[in-house]
Amino acid sequence: MLSTKFLFASAAALAALSGLANAQTNITDHDCASASEYSKCNRNVADRWSSCVRDCRGDGNCIVDCGCDSHQKYINCMAESCWNQVYSCKYQLFVQQYFAICPRAREPIPFWPAPDNAPNRCSCDLGKVTQTTLSSRNQQIKCMKDVTDHIRDDISSITDLSNIGNGLDIANRASDCACCGASASISAAWDICPHTKPTLAGADMWNLFFPTDLPNLYTSLPNWAWSSCDATLQESTCKNLGFTDTDKFYKPGDYPSNGTSTLYEVGGRVTAPPSGTVLTWSQASATYTVTATGYDRKAVASQSEYRATATDDEAFPSQTSDGAAASLRAGVGAVVGAVVAVVML
Ligand SMILES: *[C@@H]1O[C@H](CO)[C@@H](O)[C@H](O)[C@H]1NC(C)=O
Ligand SMILES: *[C@@H]1O[C@H](CO)[C@@H](O)[C@H](O)[C@H]1NC(C)=O
Repeated sequence: MLSTKFLFASAAALAALSGLANAQTNITDHDCASASEYSKCNRNVADRWSSCVRDCRGDGNCIVDCGCDSHQKYINCMAESCWNQVYSCKYQLFVQQYFAICPRAREPIPFWPAPDNAPNRCSCDLGKVTQTTLSSRNQQIKCMKDVTDHIRDDISSITDLSNIGNGLDIANRASDCACCGASASISAAWDICPHTKPTLAGADMWNLFFPTDLPNLYTSLPNWAWSSCDATLQESTCKNLGFTDTDKFYKPGDYPSNGTSTLYEVGGRVTAPPSGTVLTWSQASATYTVTATGYDRKAVASQSEYRATATDDEAFPSQTSDGAAASLRAGVGAVVGAVVAVVML
């Protein structure tokens, strides 16, 4: 659904971001089930990403594709040798980044969002916040399409003169689509992660997934601003317009109080590959089959027994919460900021 212009603009932004080819999951090697395999795997992906970008010779869409493929391969590295960290904040943030930089990224993504009560999961269900933002974006695109289809209907059925040139009505309805989509995304951060600082929970993500100046989405709304939604936003209107995946539609001036927590891991540790020994998954461009390493196969066959003995095993280092997830979030923000900035050029 995204326009070529958006693709190209993203590509230009990505190309301009020196160092993006070093963007990894930001997970520390030695936290992984197999540290050496994991760092080797990541190094290979980074090398191939760099040469992929070089081979594009400046072609924007090609550079975007390199980013998509590389992110998919980083996910494979996780499944192969760092499967014990796949529910961590950093991996959930990495998948968020994948959706941000890769317009053709599609669900399902392995280990994302983390299941309820997953071991070693992030204190804030970042995957669910991102998922809500993505589904709200799709509903918003559909909502806007209904508006533009309606304009075409108006023009072709000249009989109903009262509707012709009823620009105000059209603008109001387009504005409702924009307000509901932004609100659904923003509200998810407060609603899903009430204890987490809103910016860490993804409150700013809508800026990325709902760029206000994306021409094909907001033709009727050149001056739309989130703050303008205070006057018009209504939950019932949003539900009627098809925003059915969320319950909360907070207004710009009416959020619940802000959480204060940073991101950290809870729920013990992952002691066997969550997807079993072999993971198969697909995106539009490729199907991957990944075999997990770094554990005792015999033990995995009887997982409960294994769990009882794995706790003291050096091969399964525990994840300590640290501030790095916050800096990763800042990193994602920078990437996103650049993408949006170039779209605005
Ligand atoms: C709550 O967080 C949002 C997003 O970071 C921020 O804009 C707002 O000013 C905060 N509100 C208060 C009362 O601190
Ligand atoms: C990973 O962390 C580093 C250091 O905090 C940060 O500079 C970088 O942007 C992060 N990577 C991504 C992909 O966000």
